[in-house]
Amino acid sequence: VTDVRGDLTAAYQGVDDLGAFGPAELAAYRSALLERTAVQAAFVAERLPPAARVAEVGTGNGRLLIAMAQRGVIAAACGTDLSESRIAFARDWASAAGTPGLTFEVADVLADPLPTGCDAVICITNAFAYFDAIEPGTAARAAVAMREALAPGGLLVLEVYPHAELRRLVEAQGSGTLRVWEELPADDPWRFYLSDYVLEPDTGVLHHRKVFVHRTAGTVDDSRREHLRLYEPKELRSEIAEAGFADVELFDGWSGDDDTLTVLTARRA
Ligand SMILES: C[S@@+](CC[C@H](N)C(=O)[O-])C[C@H]1O[C@@H](n2cnc3c(N)ncnc32)[C@H](O)[C@@H]1O
Repeated sequence: VTDVRGDLTAAYQGVDDLGAFGPAELAAYRSALLERTAVQAAFVAERLPPAARVAEVGTGNGRLLIAMAQRGVIAAACGTDLSESRIAFARDWASAAGTPGLTFEVADVLADPLPTGCDAVICITNAFAYFDAIEPGTAARAAVAMREALAPGGLLVLEVYPHAELRRLVEAQGSGTLRVWEELPADDPWRFYLSDYVLEPDTGVLHHRKVFVHRTAGTVDDSRREHLRLYEPKELRSEIAEAGFADVELFDGWSGDDDTLTVLTARRA
């Protein structure tokens, strides 16, 4: 039996555990996160009104809101996530960075209310693709919740991964399981990474079972599962238009030159 919801909750519990970092490692990790977030923060920042109010769904460790706060473009922002360890990480980081106006809460966008009157609501790094994997129609509900969090004219920003190459491979495989072995780099404690992929043709949901084989101990970790809807860009566009958004625009990545990422912007009418 596939427990999509349980697998999703389990996938991020304990991630970014503050207790696992020494002070120097923590500083280096935060700085690497900010470096790779710069292009996303710049994209959103240039579309915001002054002193914006922002909500982020599936904020993870808070890297996007921290990067935007450091640019001085937000007056208030709330990041929510299912993962307690990631929210603890984000809170600690916001307080260390001295960025006022940021709050982080453990919350489920599918059950808990979002703030209202926001200038922007953001959901990036493919987090939106998890929702329809729980049950078709769930993403539509999340999109409506995000629209209702916005002030009139407010901005929605989504980022999803179409995984076009993977889709092609899984479709070529037919109805069975696509199995891919990868050998990991020599500095990784795990040596082999086995992926089993099954695509549901009717829903576009991809089930991914991950198996890792340890480099020295030979132990096997097969506890991790991921379930994602693979969105073609045009499917994402119609999903968002049907949720009552206007001015839907699609971009190939944050800089317009990467078709492995679909970035969508839209406005609350
Ligand atoms: C791929 S991570 C992206 C994190 C962050 N946006 C980033 O770019 O670093 C997806 C995040 O979405 C969160 N998430 C998944 N379903 C959620 C839900 N229903 N409500 C809130 N957060 C959720 C997960 O806990 C996870 O931290």
